[in-house]
Amino acid sequence: MSGGGAAAARIGIVGYGVMGKAHCHGYRVAPMIRALPVVPVVTVLAGRTGPAVAAAASAYGVPEYVTDWRRLVERADVDIVDICTPPGTHAEIARAAAAAGKAVLCEKPLAVSYAQAEDALAAVTGAGVLHAVGFNYRRLPALALMRQMIAGGEVGEVRLWRATWLSDEFTDPATPFDWRFDPAMGGTTIADLGCHLIDLAMWMAGEIEAVCAQSQTFIRDRPSPDGGRRAVAVDDASSALLRFASGARGTLEVARVAVRRPCDFTVEVNGSRGTLFFSYARLNELWHGGADEDERRYGMRRIRAEHPSHPLTAGWWPIGQGIGYGASFANQAADLLERWPAGPWAPGFGEGAAVQAVCEAMEVSAARGQWVRTDEVLAAAADHGRRPGRGRAAG
Ligand SMILES: NC(=O)c1ccc[n+]([C@@H]2O[C@H](COP(=O)([O-])OP(=O)(O)OC[C@H]3O[C@@H](n4cnc5c(N)ncnc54)[C@H](O)[C@@H]3O)[C@@H](O)[C@H]2O)c1
Repeated sequence: MSGGGAAAARIGIVGYGVMGKAHCHGYRVAPMIRALPVVPVVTVLAGRTGPAVAAAASAYGVPEYVTDWRRLVERADVDIVDICTPPGTHAEIARAAAAAGKAVLCEKPLAVSYAQAEDALAAVTGAGVLHAVGFNYRRLPALALMRQMIAGGEVGEVRLWRATWLSDEFTDPATPFDWRFDPAMGGTTIADLGCHLIDLAMWMAGEIEAVCAQSQTFIRDRPSPDGGRRAVAVDDASSALLRFASGARGTLEVARVAVRRPCDFTVEVNGSRGTLFFSYARLNELWHGGADEDERRYGMRRIRAEHPSHPLTAGWWPIGQGIGYGASFANQAADLLERWPAGPWAPGFGEGAAVQAVCEAMEVSAARGQWVRTDEVLAAAADHGRRPGRGRAAG
């Protein structure tokens, strides 16, 4: 028996690693948690190595695969190009997808530099296609609730915003060199981990106008897969002071050398009337303390952010069962396809590029040892675009 005649939104996914799998999972689950005008169907997977991409396609239930992403982009049975490859490849693939008239979902960070991010933004806006960046943590109920409470004035005026992201993926000096250690392919730790936090910061507290950062690379070379050792220039850890345009102040710390810390991130906001705190290790909880609460109950209260009254919980399990990482990709797919083929999609490449500008300001600041304004990064890119021979209009 057929499942009904709903039209399909046909997706081609470039890259079949951790994110290729997560996105396949998201498309599969999305129609189970939300009524959509279309059924998402992953029609083709792209990867560079035939047997490996074939095995992934089989495991993920994708009927076809190609070994050159350009063949995926040009296919008539692809409406959406979903980019799940290393950041250094994103802008080129996004540009080709936009030129072919496809909607584009791109994993974070949008690129490895602001100039590349701006090029990708110009390509999708010029072609008039739908575009989004995979800042999936916006799709966790507790973080969406945090943002909703801030926007609703429940903590008053935002004064302080802080976040940390601690990971141990670079701790072992024997971990071999791969794309994550190559600045041109993986970008920095600031961009890799920090981009999620900067996106959340700007989503919750508005524009970041200046940063003062420091970075360190503790393990300066790594075993090369070709033999010998390869120098590493990517930061193992970075931190920064943030100045928001609103007058709020913030701090941010990212590290990939924090022993026994797997993917531990925290976000806290202190407003004039209250505090909110989120810790990813307890991702279904949001802690709240309000200045107007009974003093005899002084302290922070744990909100179970899975209640049907909370954002992004509809269609999930009964409260108490947990809505996790995989769910963020299903929520992302459902949000993007809810009005398909209409948009707009959010967060779009404009937000991805704005995040990239803050990442780059942090990178420049750490290199100089000085405060750097975000608009300096924008001005430098515009200036570069105006130079003869760039073949692209500024701004
Ligand atoms: N949103 C999240 O929670 C999250 C988590 C992890 C990674 N990411 C992002 O997703 C992207 C992919 O990360 P991943 O962890 O899936 O990586 P991965 O190493 O698991 O997979 C990368 C995929 O890209 C392919 N690839 C590698 N180099 C390539 C090249 N030069 N050209 C074309 N294809 C290439 C690989 O074959 C593989 O299929 C990155 O941008 C990363 O920052 C996001």
